Amino acid sequence: MATPTASTPSPATGKQTPDATVKWQHRHVIDSSKLSYTDVQEILNTAKTFADILSRPVKKVPTLRGKVIVNMFYENSTRTRTSFELAGRYLSADISNFSIATSSVKKGESIIDTAETLAAMGVDAVVIRHSSSGICQQLANHFGNRLGIINAGDGWHDHPTQGLLDLYSILEKRSCIKGKKIVIVGDITHSRVARSNIAILNLFGADVHVAAPSTLLPVDIEQLGCKAHTQIEPALEGADIVMCLRLQLERQKAGLIPSLSEYNKFYTINKERLQRHCKPDTIIMHPGPMNRGVEIASDVADDKSTSLITNQVTSGVAIRMALLYLVLSTPVERGQ
Ligand code: CP
Repeated sequence: MATPTASTPSPATGKQTPDATVKWQHRHVIDSSKLSYTDVQEILNTAKTFADILSRPVKKVPTLRGKVIVNMFYENSTRTRTSFELAGRYLSADISNFSIATSSVKKGESIIDTAETLAAMGVDAVVIRHSSSGICQQLANHFGNRLGIINAGDGWHDHPTQGLLDLYSILEKRSCIKGKKIVIVGDITHSRVARSNIAILNLFGADVHVAAPSTLLPVDIEQLGCKAHTQIEPALEGADIVMCLRLQLERQKAGLIPSLSEYNKFYTINKERLQRHCKPDTIIMHPGPMNRGVEIASDVADDKSTSLITNQVTSGVAIRMALLYLVLSTPVERGQ
């Protein structure tokens, strides 16, 4: 496996992509904004190979036989945890789901001590979801390349595999996204999915917009490479792709939206809004889990002619197989 070249300009944008190009030998996938165009292209190409394998009756390959992966999910998950588990199993790795509720975490053990314990048992990589932004980087700094750290969503910071699977799903339908208007609608402030997508879609030259009530829109969000809107109509005007985000219902309790019915009136992605403002063949996406009737109307979510929601879930397995493969099959650089 070739090491991606540092500072590769994106062919889509001509811009220099991040210097800190991922080296799989370092065994971590933590931050979408640190991925270069070349890194993402390599992940997509690898995922395509695995997607082809997944379409066969027998999905299992021996690629990661002998490798051990532990899922450490400190927050709830259906899609990410299950697809990482299936991805590991399809690659013949041994994969264990660490149960936080019945572990010594409940006796106050720190996450570093917990991960050290797993490393001492011969675990090769951990897949982590945690409410604390930056926890994966903290673990990577502590472990170096002794233990692979894969971010499955850390606080509001990042959810790299979601951004990657979203891009993969789009590229299955549209060969190029350069200049395409992609609108992310919902609770941008608390969304790691929005941050991942802004970073990754920008690498490929998309015209990224975000839309939310001002209470759910960080003031400095445009610095990440997007245009911010507090009204949905100008955001949706001429959109090629609309990504809905889950409205975390606790935001209403925190006073960030007046009521769900108000949110529904002004921001819900429904057929009428799509027909009035977007392109006729606009793609609809949602990372899940959905609050039907809140951020997305049910008929929009279920319209197979435009909704990519199921495709996103399917792509997640191939993308996670690709990352596990790249992280665990590349020889470790000693002394890093
Ligand atoms: N999209 C996503 O992260 O879903 P889960 O919370 O079910 O993993």
